[in-house]
Amino acid sequence: MPRSKIAGLGFYVPKNVVTNDDLAQRIDTSDEWIRERSGIQERRYFTPGEDTVANMGARAAQMALDRAGLKAEDIDFIIFATLNPDYFFPGSGVLLQRELGINHLGTPALDIRNQCSGFIYGLSIADQFIKTGMYKNVLMVGSEIHSSGLDFSDEGRAVTVLFGDGAGAVVLSATDEEDKGILTTKLHADGEQAEKLAVLAPTANEERHISKEMIDDRRVFPVMNGRYVFKFAVEKFPEVIMEALNETGYKTEDIDLFVPHQANLRIAEAVRKTLGLPPEKVHNNIMKYGNTTAASIPIALNEAWELGKVKEGDLVCLAAFGSGFTWASALIRW
Ligand code: UT7
Repeated sequence: MPRSKIAGLGFYVPKNVVTNDDLAQRIDTSDEWIRERSGIQERRYFTPGEDTVANMGARAAQMALDRAGLKAEDIDFIIFATLNPDYFFPGSGVLLQRELGINHLGTPALDIRNQCSGFIYGLSIADQFIKTGMYKNVLMVGSEIHSSGLDFSDEGRAVTVLFGDGAGAVVLSATDEEDKGILTTKLHADGEQAEKLAVLAPTANEERHISKEMIDDRRVFPVMNGRYVFKFAVEKFPEVIMEALNETGYKTEDIDLFVPHQANLRIAEAVRKTLGLPPEKVHNNIMKYGNTTAASIPIALNEAWELGKVKEGDLVCLAAFGSGFTWASALIRW
C-alpha cells in the first residue's frame, strides 16, 4: 500500500505587521498582558484589495509545489481548510484552483471546516485518498483572514489579541519507500462544546440569515470561554498524541520534532512538559504570527524545515486542538 509523504512545504503571511503595542492603541490591552498570557508579540493582518483567503493559500501552495518539483497541473486533488472563507458559498477550494490556473483541468477541490484542527483533518483525508491509490499528489492548504472578523471593542479583547492572518500548504505525494511518510493520524470531536468557541452569526436558522440585530448584539464576532478551552486543550493534546504513539509502537522519546498548533505558548509548554520533551524538540512561532488556525501548523512546520530542524528520517509529531471542539494528531516519518 502506498504511503503519503510531504513532498513540499510552503507559506505566505501578509506584509502588515501588527505589534501588541499597535493593538493597545485600539483596545484596552497591553504588550505585557498579551505576552504573559499567550506568548504572542506580533501578528500579520491582510491588506484589503491585495490579500484574499484564496490568493494567500495559492501563494503558499505555489511555494510548496515548487519545492516538490511539481506543477499545479500535477495536482490530483485539493483540500482547503479555513474558518473564514472568501464567500458564504462556494468554498475557497475552487477559488484556489482558479488562482492556480488549473480550472480547465477540472481538478476536484474539497473544503473542510475543522478550525484549528483543519490542517490535520485535511492531512488525514489526503492520506486516505493516497493510500487507496485514488490520488498520487494532493495539495493541502490552510488559509485564514481573521482580522476582518475580530471584535475591536474592549468586550472582544481576549479573543482579538490572539489571532492573526496567514496561509500554509503542503503537497502530499504517494511513496513506496519503507517506513516513510504519514504513519498515522488520529481525529476526534466533541460537539457538546460547539458554542464554547464559535461565531454564531450569520446563521441560516433565523428568518434572515444576516440582520442588523446580529451586528448590534455582537453575534457576528467570535466568542470563547478561554479558561475552559485552555483546560480542555492541555488534556486532549497529550491524549491524542499518546494514542498515535501507542498505535505505531513509538514512545515520546522517539519524537524528534513536535509541532503543535499555535494557540497559546502556555498550552504548548504545558503539553511539552506532560510529554517530557526537551524544549529543543518543540517548534513554536506563535510569537511572530499569533494563532492562524488552519494555517498555524503548516506555517510552523515550514519554518522548522527552513531552519533545518526537520531532517530525513526524523519522527515528526503534529497535534491540534480547537473549536468544535475538535482535536487531532499525526505522526510522520520524514
Ligand atoms: O486555537 C483555538 C483555541 N483557543 C485557545 O486555545 C485559547 C485558550 N485560552 C487562552 O489562551 C487563555 O484563556 C486566554 C489567553 C484567552 C486568556 O488568558 P486567561 O489567563 O485565561 O485570562 P482570563 O480570560 O481569565 O482573563 C484574566 C483577566 C480578566 O480580568 P479580571 O476579571 O481578572 O479583572 C480579563 O478581563 O484579564 C482580562 N483580559 C485582558 N486584559 C488585557 C482579558 N483579555 C485581555 C486583554 N488585555 N486582551
